[in-house]
This record gives sequence, structure tokens and C-alpha cells, in this order.
Amino acid sequence: MSSTFFIPPVNIMGIGCLDEAMDAIGKYRFRKALIVTDMGLAKAGVASMIAEKLAMQDIDSVIFDGAKPNPSIANVERGLGLLKESRCDFVVSLGGGSPHDCAKGIALCATNGGQIRDYEGVDQSEKPQLPLIAINTTAGTASEMTRFCIITDESRHVKMAIVDRNVTPLLSVNDPALMVAMPKSLTAATGMDALTHAIEAYVSTAANPITDACALKAMTLISQNLRLAVRDGSDMAARENMAYAQFLAGMAFNNASLGYVHAMAHQLGGFYDLPHGVCNAVLLPHVQSFNAVVCAARLTDVAHAMGADIRGFSPEEGAQAAIAAIRSLARDVEIPAGLRELGVRLNDIPTLATNALKDACGVTNPRAADQRQIEEIFRSAF
Ligand SMILES: [Fe+2]
Repeated sequence: MSSTFFIPPVNIMGIGCLDEAMDAIGKYRFRKALIVTDMGLAKAGVASMIAEKLAMQDIDSVIFDGAKPNPSIANVERGLGLLKESRCDFVVSLGGGSPHDCAKGIALCATNGGQIRDYEGVDQSEKPQLPLIAINTTAGTASEMTRFCIITDESRHVKMAIVDRNVTPLLSVNDPALMVAMPKSLTAATGMDALTHAIEAYVSTAANPITDACALKAMTLISQNLRLAVRDGSDMAARENMAYAQFLAGMAFNNASLGYVHAMAHQLGGFYDLPHGVCNAVLLPHVQSFNAVVCAARLTDVAHAMGADIRGFSPEEGAQAAIAAIRSLARDVEIPAGLRELGVRLNDIPTLATNALKDACGVTNPRAADQRQIEEIFRSAF
């Protein structure tokens, strides 16, 4: 089976790397940036700090702080309007998954025209997007380095998966110094999102030796560092390890794709506007229980990577050990126990399941499910 490996051409990471990244940005000779961020980072002065650093490179900028959590089509349209009005020649996204995804939508429509809805699915655009530089502040979604862009269509209550090589950023920046301000709950949710990326990519039908290596290392780093980063947000070693871990998990899923955890979590996010990482964390053990029948040996590797002692275990016992390790990590970082706690309604399950089966992320799940089985997994996660 052939495979193609996607990753941004340049990726700068490590504690204090922001200044080095700014020098690299200066060398592209861009003129004016649209800085896409969220209200929190704008209020905290982080966006204006980035604008000042760009100015030191002789780059003008304008700030768009309208990327909401679970960014919508309307968010993309507003940002695109400001980009055109301000005649920007590149985009800088600043934040976690939401600003990066919103910025990808803006940059893709800026060169391809039309609306972001036109690009739902896989590789629907024709031209490269406007150059995008992604400065990450969570450890997490890995959107700063992927070809995935998730935008909520509020009229349909669904999250559109835009999987397009043309939304890959030009440069990704992961400076853990920008991640220390994350509150505990965001650290936990984004860290569990990264674990989900690694596990779904490892059991994916499109996994290959490169994505396997990235996924397994990510699982180990997350198991060893997420509890520490949640307990003490100023633990720089744990923050840096989580930054590398989420990037490795991104390398894995950007190329091996995902599975039903993401296909189902997208529906919860689109329907109830819930945090992506929390939805994934709640669903992850349930989907892997469903998958265990066909990939017990792979899940045994997951257990081993997460530090479980699997000596003498059968593949079935190994799979159970992986599920136990996932549950124990989720519990330790205080992820809610089930969907009921998140306000999900049992009556909505048939619709959520129908939409999950349409999500592009589910295609590579190792075990195919029908409508009734997806509904069953949702119910088991209550
Ligand atoms: Fe994710």
C-alpha cells in the first residue's frame, strides 16, 4: 500500500523559540498579517505582543479576535472580510485549534474564492491557501501542523471536516512558554485530544511504520507528562514534553487519519458546542472497546506504550489493559465520567449517529459500524 506524508515545511519548537520563529517569519518578506486569534488571547495582550514582534520584522498586522471555540462559517466570513479590507498578504494564527482552524478557512477561501462550505471533504480546493503561520498556545489539537480544518455549520448543527493538503501551514511554532497560562481543564482536555489522535492513528486502517513510530512515542510522552502538566502548569519540562507529544500525535493522524472517536465527537461539538478534547476523552475507551475485536494486538501495543505491564497477557487482555490505562489517565486529569454530565440528550443519539457516519474521520476506523452500533457506543458512554 502506498502512502503520502504531509507536514509543514518548517516547524520550530522548544522553550523560548518564539524569537527564533520571528526571525524566520521575517525572512519570508511578507508585508501585512491578519492575526487570527480568540478573545481571551486578545484581552490577555498576547495578540498585541505578537503584533509588536512582527513590527520589529517590518511587518504590519491587523488583529481578528473573532475565532470562537468550535469556529463557525460566520467566523470565517468575518475574518475573510477583514483580510480583504486590510489587504493582508499572509495569515498568522495564534491560539489552539479554534484560531488555527478559523485561519485555515480564511486563508483557503482567500485564494480559492467561494465559501468554506464548498471545501468540505477531502482535497476539494484547487489552489494553495494564502501562506499561514501557526503559533500554537495549547498542546493538543496539532492543528498548527495538520491538513485538517474543522468548521461548524451552525445551520446544520454539524462540524464540517475539511481535509485538504492546501490548508497545511507554511510554518508551525510550538513554544511551551506560550502554553503555561493554560488552565488545568484546558491542559487536560487538549492533552486527551492528543492521546486520542495517537491511538486512533495507531489502530487506523491507514497506519504505516512512520505514523506508528510517531503515535507510540506520543502515547508514552502523554502518559508520562499529562498528569504533571495538569497538576503544575508551570512545570516547563512537562509542558515541553506535551508540546512534542501533541506534535508527534499530529504527525501520526495527519497521515494515518482518525476513527470513530473523532467522527462521533465532532457531532457532540457541533450539536452542543462542547469542548472537543473532553468529547474525545469520554468516547475514547468506548470506541476502543468496540474496536478491540479486530485490533487487540495493536491495542496491546498501546497499553505497553502507556506504561502498562503486559507480560504474559493475551491480545484480549492487552486490549483491556489499554482501555484501563486510558480510563485511569482520564480520571486522574478530571475528565467528566460520561456524556450525561456533559448535557447530551438520549433522544438526540439517532441524529448524532447518522451524522457521525457521514464524517470523513470515520473512514479509517479499524472496525466498520452501522447506525445501530454507533448509537450503542453513544449509549455506553452515558
Ligand atoms: Fe482532535
